[in-house]
Amino acid sequence: MYYQQDGFENYDYAERQNQKVLREINKALNDEFKAIHYYTRLAELAPNSQFKKAILGIRQDEIKHFGWFSTAYFKLSGKYPTLVLGAELPSTFKSGIRASIKDEQETVPFYQALSSQISDVQTKQRVLRAAGDEHRHAQIFNQINTSL
Ligand SMILES: [Fe+2]
Ligand SMILES: [Fe+2]
Repeated sequence: MYYQQDGFENYDYAERQNQKVLREINKALNDEFKAIHYYTRLAELAPNSQFKKAILGIRQDEIKHFGWFSTAYFKLSGKYPTLVLGAELPSTFKSGIRASIKDEQETVPFYQALSSQISDVQTKQRVLRAAGDEHRHAQIFNQINTSL
């Protein structure tokens, strides 16, 4: 009897953990979706072609991440994620670059922690690679910011 109850509690814990990971993947996916739109506008606001090219390169990474998180969500749940439409856009290049530095920096530990909770090897590695990309993005935005 005790064994059964213990087993049930373990199942319950695993299920709660699974739901938490799925919620976080869904959040990550929506963050990537917002970033794609945000960087599209930021590239349009860029004062020169060098900055524009750098931002469009970052945007390509976010498109790749969006695909990874979409695949991960479906792989782990068998369901489609919920997409929240309507993204906030930058009003000026400078304020957009500063907001982007903060956003990219905050995303690194979020993805690192998320990766550590995932057991599927491919998904785990992709989330960790995304964390590495976001770290690099923060550095690029920092470089742009210092020359403004
Ligand atoms: Fe990303
Ligand atoms: Fe990024």
